Amino acid sequence: MASKGSGSAARPGLFFVAIVLVVGLIGGVFGTGFSGVVLHQTSDTEFCVSCHVYEDFAERFKTTSHWNNARGVRAGCGDCHIPEHSWWTMIREKAYMGTKDVWQYFIGGIDTPAEFRQHRERLRKTATDWFVANDSITCRSCHAVEAMKLEAQGPGGRGAHQVLGTPNAPTCVACHGGIAHPDPESDGGDGDTTAARDGPPDAS
Ligand code: HEC
Ligand code: HEC
Ligand code: HEC
Ligand code: HEC
Repeated sequence: MASKGSGSAARPGLFFVAIVLVVGLIGGVFGTGFSGVVLHQTSDTEFCVSCHVYEDFAERFKTTSHWNNARGVRAGCGDCHIPEHSWWTMIREKAYMGTKDVWQYFIGGIDTPAEFRQHRERLRKTATDWFVANDSITCRSCHAVEAMKLEAQGPGGRGAHQVLGTPNAPTCVACHGGIAHPDPESDGGDGDTTAARDGPPDAS
């Protein structure tokens, strides 16, 4: 009697749990696929440059060797600015940077070249700080130090790169600042700005 009562109470309970599990499983599968699509789409260079238009910022980037080169291997905005080495870091960066960007865009707003000029130094510092704090992790997703054939590099790189892999080695952007965003004031826009901005720190 008591068992019949608890049984009828338990059966709808189990049924409900089963429904939740099945729905959850299907939702999870679709959800993962869907969020994969969304994450990929939002990493899209075109998405980024829909906002980052000021002062031909994107056009100048597209003159650099990371956009067009002999091998046809391309780095888009997200390849450098969104770490994909881990789901968690990526989602965290997305959530943080995405929210901040959209918020600033609609509330703060950088919508004229003059405003961009006014903010650029600060933004460049924020971006550089990110690369330094993360040891240029996104650069390393394409340029693996252990895969670098130093003897095949030009004398500048071969010399400077000896320090890579040693403790306290400077990070990539310390020497390669401006690699993707030539400084409008200081170069002819050929895109090869390696070490032009700061110069390699004690690379002897
Ligand atoms: C909705 C407009 C918008 C979109 C889309 C957008 N950004 Fe931004 N982004 C901004 C604004 C506005 C700022 C300036 C934020 C500030 O003033 O701190 C900014 C700042 C930045 C900075 C400077 C450093 C920092 O973190 O503040 C980087 C790097 C950046 N965005 C990269 C990207 C990349 C990569 C994408 C594409 C995945 C992207 N943005 C998409 C509007 C946008
Ligand atoms: C998506 C892959 C990818 C990412 C991410 C990437 N690179 Fe590159 N990089 C390349 C390719 C491909 C070339 C070769 C271009 C060529 O053949 O001229 C290159 C060329 C270079 C060069 C030499 C050419 C030049 O213009 O001086 C430097 C220096 C360099 N990358 C540094 C960096 C740094 C620093 C980062 C991170 C801020 C980075 N790369 C991120 C793919 C990448
Ligand atoms: C101590 C300064 C320094 C550091 C740190 C540094 N580089 Fe370089 N790198 C140079 C110099 C100098 C050159 C040669 C000048 C040039 O290519 O414009 C060079 C050249 C390169 C080249 C072109 C090589 C060739 O001959 O084709 C690539 C690619 C590159 N660096 C990637 C990186 C990456 C990725 C990192 C971080 C893992 C890094 N560098 C760290 C100074 C540095
Ligand atoms: C090869 C790697 C690389 C690619 C590709 C790249 N960036 Fe950057 N970006 C950097 C680095 C490194 C910095 C830090 C400042 C510097 O060294 O120029 C930076 C800085 C920035 C800043 C701060 C403002 C400034 O002038 O420095 C913004 C905004 C930005 N990037 C947006 C973008 C957008 C949008 C794209 C695609 C159109 C893009 N980046 C493509 C490496 C990259």
